[in-house]
Amino acid sequence: MTAPEKSATRIETQDLSVHFEDRSALNAIDLSLSPGEIVALVGPNGAGKSTLMRVLAGMLPPSHGRVLVDGQASHGPNACIIYVPQRSAVDWTFPIDVTEVVLLARRKARSRLLPYGGADREAALRVLTSVGMEPFAHVQISRLSGGQQQRVFLARALLQNGDVYLLDEPFTGVDVPTQDVVVEVLRELASRGKTIVFATHDLHQAFTSSNRVILLNRTIIADGPTSEVATDANLRATFGGTSSMFDLVDLMNGTAQR
Ligand SMILES: Nc1ncnc2c1ncn2[C@@H]1O[C@H](COP(=O)(O)OP(=O)(O)OP(=O)(O)O)[C@@H](O)[C@H]1O
Ligand SMILES: [Mg+2]
Repeated sequence: MTAPEKSATRIETQDLSVHFEDRSALNAIDLSLSPGEIVALVGPNGAGKSTLMRVLAGMLPPSHGRVLVDGQASHGPNACIIYVPQRSAVDWTFPIDVTEVVLLARRKARSRLLPYGGADREAALRVLTSVGMEPFAHVQISRLSGGQQQRVFLARALLQNGDVYLLDEPFTGVDVPTQDVVVEVLRELASRGKTIVFATHDLHQAFTSSNRVILLNRTIIADGPTSEVATDANLRATFGGTSSMFDLVDLMNGTAQR
């Protein structure tokens, strides 16, 4: 019998709210995330998806309520919780190459003055290979396309070796092969007992790549197994409603008009 890699991390929120000066971004959020889940966090622009992820990652304090990590109140970043930001939130003009971006994952574990060792570089190359980016190892990050940058970010997260991965819009603006790479990596992580949460407003990706969906629009509209959450009423309550969404629900229910 093989021993589990490491005890998995469980995250909960209790009556969590976030208010910015002039607006409420999240209200009364209660959720619990378990090891091995792939959770799609779905909602329109401004729904609070990034805010929720940043609070879960300990980067932003809640205005009310709390985050529990393995039953203990959390008051800041936790090394086992990895947040991969929205691509638009990153300064891509930073003059470093792909390998160095990935190696930043190891930065905290070592002195700033020491050069990276051979083992670190080998590990970086291994994760770059797993996302199909090893031919770009020495290319400046600013010279990559958006989808290639997304793959590099995923590689960096893999090298961080967390228990919980919070990915903010990993599918936005990337082509189908890159989406497939991302899904493959997420499934592999989940199969090793990691918890995965990804934010998206792409319903197709949400419903095909997750086993649980949380519909968010400042509050949780619905939360459950993917097949149960995809109802017309839930989507209308979350997004307000456009025909394409309901076509998608029809498609998933096998009732689409062709
Ligand atoms: N630092 C901040 N200061 C003030 N308001 C903020 C801040 N960050 C987010 N907000 C507000 O909180 C709300 C939720 O924003 P958030 O970025 O979490 O939404 P989102 O669901 O991630 O949207 P998107 O799909 O556009 O990424 C928005 O109304 C936004 O304007
Ligand atoms: Mg966002």
